[in-house]
Amino acid sequence: MKSLKVDIRKTAGFISEGAVYAFENQMIKNHEAVLNKTGKGNDFLGWVDLPSTIDESLLKSIASSAAKMQEKAELFVVIGIGGSYLGARAVIEALQDNFAALKTGRNKPFIIYAGQNIGEDYMSQLLSLLDKHDYALTVISKSGTTTEPAIAFRILKNHLEEKYGKKEAVERIIAITDQEKGALKKLADDEGYQTYVVPDDVGGRYSVLTPVGLLPIAVAGYDIRQLVQGAADMEGLNRKSARLNDNPMALYAATRNALYQSGKNVEILVNYLPNLYYLTEWWKQLYGESEGKENKGIFPAGVNFTTDLHSMGQYIQEGERMLFETVLSVEEPNTKMTIPSDGQNLDGLNYIAGKRIDEVNKMAELGTMLAHVDGGVPNIRLSLPGINEYYLGQLIYFFEMACALSGYTLDVNPFDQPGVEAYKKNMFALLGKPGFEKATEEIRKRL
Ligand code: PA5
Repeated sequence: MKSLKVDIRKTAGFISEGAVYAFENQMIKNHEAVLNKTGKGNDFLGWVDLPSTIDESLLKSIASSAAKMQEKAELFVVIGIGGSYLGARAVIEALQDNFAALKTGRNKPFIIYAGQNIGEDYMSQLLSLLDKHDYALTVISKSGTTTEPAIAFRILKNHLEEKYGKKEAVERIIAITDQEKGALKKLADDEGYQTYVVPDDVGGRYSVLTPVGLLPIAVAGYDIRQLVQGAADMEGLNRKSARLNDNPMALYAATRNALYQSGKNVEILVNYLPNLYYLTEWWKQLYGESEGKENKGIFPAGVNFTTDLHSMGQYIQEGERMLFETVLSVEEPNTKMTIPSDGQNLDGLNYIAGKRIDEVNKMAELGTMLAHVDGGVPNIRLSLPGINEYYLGQLIYFFEMACALSGYTLDVNPFDQPGVEAYKKNMFALLGKPGFEKATEEIRKRL
């Protein structure tokens, strides 16, 4: 089976090969710390062997819950935020038809999302949609106390109960949360919802291969076994060696750290296929939340080319030179289409008539790579053989492991996120949450 490849040749001229390979010993040390679970945040390393150890009975149970939801629902609402939402959305949107929402005759539910924002219009527009369609939902929260999904679930639970009656509403809700703690766990037990567990030792942004990601992906009709298989094969490759020539995850982690050391502190993940938009969003969370702490870390940004070449392309070509690009290049799209010839040729495009659209996309990609390198932006290229469940599984594990190796290189804990509490404290104080009385008084004076 083909595999994801990393090409760092277009970083030459910015960093030497020696600067990359200088990180090899560090990678070997980090790799040991990850595999032996001895590094920082080692109680959150359950994702490392998850693909190869996933329980067959869990996969079967998810498949059967998904089949039940497929029977009941035209729309399936995934309620969650951050790591409890982005992984599922990244995979589903990478695999699904770009116009799925508008195509009729679907035999699987269309997946929609809630609890990832606090937009009042979003919620009321969602309810008016759900009035008209059969739906079911999953509410996903490891802590079970996150405000955004809790608000969305409170509203949708009421809506479901009004629409179907309490007994049937229970059959249309699956809760994914902690095994023991949290408000959602208690509610699920009290109400009798079917539940799946987010393992204690897997943090949100590393949880796509747990029920957090697998259940929504299965409901959408995609092959979760192939996804897990792709990840398991990448896990197997990672286990063999941490040497940069043998381990693409270590090579990527070493290269981005060498670039960071040379002053390139913004990494832009570039895609050339619109289906990959949410994959980039997932990657931004994974790297931003894992590395951005203790006043350190590469800032992860994302662009969608060629679309953004007509907007952000200007800055990337000629703005401040603190950028490097990581291009996610898909070798072969799933369909073939050629550009037609035209008798009049008024648009002057006959020179590419008969060529595949993807060939034009690839030339745009190569041309952009060289232009940006010439403009002072080093380029790492990740080639993915195609877009399917198996290759996405490879890619997910690749990014997760590289992130852990990279975070340890910065000497931070890549598995916590203490910084996300600050806004919550202020918001609770401003909302007058019980227990925050003093903070409420103080913060109001500052406004
Ligand atoms: O990666 C993370 O840990 C976070 O993004 C969380 O997933 C996110 O804050 C949602 O948390 P919870 O699942 O507890 O609702």
